[in-house]
Amino acid sequence: MSFACRLFKRSIGLCAPLAILVFLLSGVSASAQVDQAVYDNGEKLFKANCGSCHKPDKDMTGPAVKGAKERWDGKGDVHEWIKDSQGYIKSGNAHAKQIFEEHNKIVMPPQALSNEEIDAVLYYADNFAPAGGKKVAEAPAAAAEQPSNTWEWLLVTALVLLVVLLSLGGVSRQLSDAVREKEGLPAEPRLGTWGRIKRWAGRNKGWASVVVLLFVVWALVLLWNFMFNIGVYGGDKVAHYKPSQPIAFDHTLHAGKDNLAINCQYCHSSAEKSRHAGIPSANVCMNCHQAVSEGPKTGTAEIAKIYEAVGWDPEAMKYTGPQKPIVWNKVHNLPDHVYFNHSQHVKVGKLECQECHGPVDTKMDQVEQWSPLTMVWCLDCHNTKEVALTGTDNGYYQEIHRRLTETPMGQRELRKYLEDEKVTVRELGGFECAKCHY
Ligand code: HEC
Ligand code: HEC
Ligand code: HEC
Ligand code: HEC
Ligand code: HEC
Ligand code: HEC
Repeated sequence: MSFACRLFKRSIGLCAPLAILVFLLSGVSASAQVDQAVYDNGEKLFKANCGSCHKPDKDMTGPAVKGAKERWDGKGDVHEWIKDSQGYIKSGNAHAKQIFEEHNKIVMPPQALSNEEIDAVLYYADNFAPAGGKKVAEAPAAAAEQPSNTWEWLLVTALVLLVVLLSLGGVSRQLSDAVREKEGLPAEPRLGTWGRIKRWAGRNKGWASVVVLLFVVWALVLLWNFMFNIGVYGGDKVAHYKPSQPIAFDHTLHAGKDNLAINCQYCHSSAEKSRHAGIPSANVCMNCHQAVSEGPKTGTAEIAKIYEAVGWDPEAMKYTGPQKPIVWNKVHNLPDHVYFNHSQHVKVGKLECQECHGPVDTKMDQVEQWSPLTMVWCLDCHNTKEVALTGTDNGYYQEIHRRLTETPMGQRELRKYLEDEKVTVRELGGFECAKCHY
């Protein structure tokens, strides 16, 4: 470090920030120790048995579990409560009775767990850290991941190089000034950055033209990509289309496996039956939101908009006002001349929603258009996606297979397909203009 510091001495105290950076990236942070194995086991058990009613750190249907052991200390056995709360109340424990009454006499069902498992669950709840912030014991590992962040490293390297170059530039200028002074020549005129670049280009014409050429090629590629993607809002190359919505509805919270894990088709129920997947009406939201009036991120603000749409009075717990439908902004939009059918893909083709819509349940707190929805995109998949003609209970394919195998013409067709050893959507008509265009 000290050698490096001497090298960088000229460069405006760079070393102090550099040292701090290196220290930060090395990521040694002292933290409380948590028994990770017990924590993980507790987390698993909690999610499987308690998560539908409890949160570790917040009240839901049941109260926050964090601190439960302490709350029961001296008043009763929390294990007994969890194993059979109603039985424990009947056995005459006063604290159990009090908790039951405080929570509007909602019955907590008996939990088939051993004392050890209950201890793990309570340990998890007591040491719970919200999903956003890492669990305590994982913090060092998370910090150690940072150096693999390529962009940050490239940036740091580029900055360091720049400083080195600038300081070397300064050194060489001082040297050449000294030489000129010794030879009795006047010092070279001081030039601005642009002036120095011009002087360098004048002296290194070959290199300068390479740089200019690279720059031109880069600009052309940008232009080409730009032209190619006009009107395209999804895919790898362009920013995904992501219109704002009247209510901050979060798919990761509702559909995410680690959260509420509601099936896509609970809300988009027509995806299997019809052309459109459909957007749920506010009444579907009310199946749950009659009871849930507060969310983890937006509090009551966003859910209140559902109440307004259906005319629900959360105080009186009944419908009072007029209904005003929620106007969601459409994310996906095929041109009118294209025919697309969800049931064909979801029911017959047995595709997962995510194959076309991307990681809606894990990444999209706001829905975006993941795929480009261009004709090439449709055809690419039709060209490669194999269709399992046999071995499924899919009536549509069974019928096609019957026709292919039971008629002479069909057998000829089938042989043709099987030459490339697979039957793709293309072979079943997925390339015919009229199937997609009116
Ligand atoms: C079906 C919903 C439901 C499930 C599942 C459930 N609980 Fe409960 N729990 C409740 C309710 C409701 C209460 C409030 C007391 C009452 O009304 O009976 C409660 C109360 C408790 C209490 C007492 C709270 C306190 O502050 O002392 C603890 C501890 C507890 N639950 C732990 C658990 C654990 C651990 C699990 C999973 C193994 C679990 N519960 C599963 C609904 C549930
Ligand atoms: C609790 C109800 C609910 C669940 C569950 C749900 N969605 Fe949605 N979805 C909505 C609502 C409401 C909208 C409209 C608002 C928006 O775009 O955020 C929507 C919008 C969408 C859109 C954009 C529609 C458009 O405008 O083009 C897609 C795609 C989508 N959902 C896919 C999924 C997938 C895939 C799943 C399962 C992983 C899923 N949804 C689960 C309620 C739900
Ligand atoms: C199957 C039950 C269920 C359905 C259906 C449902 N929600 Fe929710 N929603 C929840 C629960 C539970 C929470 C609170 C989760 C928590 O506290 O962790 C929630 C939270 C929310 C939040 C607050 C989010 C935050 O981060 O603060 C909003 C907004 C919301 N839901 C909107 C909707 C809309 C709009 C619909 C209908 C399209 C809908 N929900 C349908 C169960 C549901
Ligand atoms: C083969 C690709 C593909 C699959 C699989 C797919 N979608 Fe779509 N989805 C699309 C396209 C393309 C559109 C745009 C349709 C349009 O504009 O007419 C769309 C539109 C939507 C919309 C907007 C409303 C509508 O019906 O047009 C929702 C919601 C939606 N999809 C949800 C789902 C859900 C939920 C699933 C899984 C059950 C699913 N999609 C499976 C390609 C797909
Ligand atoms: C991820 C793969 C995938 C994508 C993307 C996709 N499809 Fe398909 N498509 C399928 C599969 C699988 C089937 C087979 C279902 C069947 O046999 O009918 C199919 C079948 C079809 C059919 C019926 C063909 C027949 O058998 O007669 C039409 C029409 C169709 N798709 C239109 C589209 C359009 C329009 C798009 C683009 C907007 C699209 N598809 C994008 C996978 C895809
Ligand atoms: C699997 C479905 C599918 C098939 C098969 C298909 N197309 Fe398309 N086509 C599309 C989609 C989707 C678009 C919309 C593309 C967009 O908006 O960028 C489109 C757009 C077009 C356009 C408008 C130009 C454009 O880029 O918007 C023309 C013209 C066209 N198709 C012609 C054809 C012809 C001719 C055939 C038969 C050789 C054919 N298509 C077969 C899905 C298909």
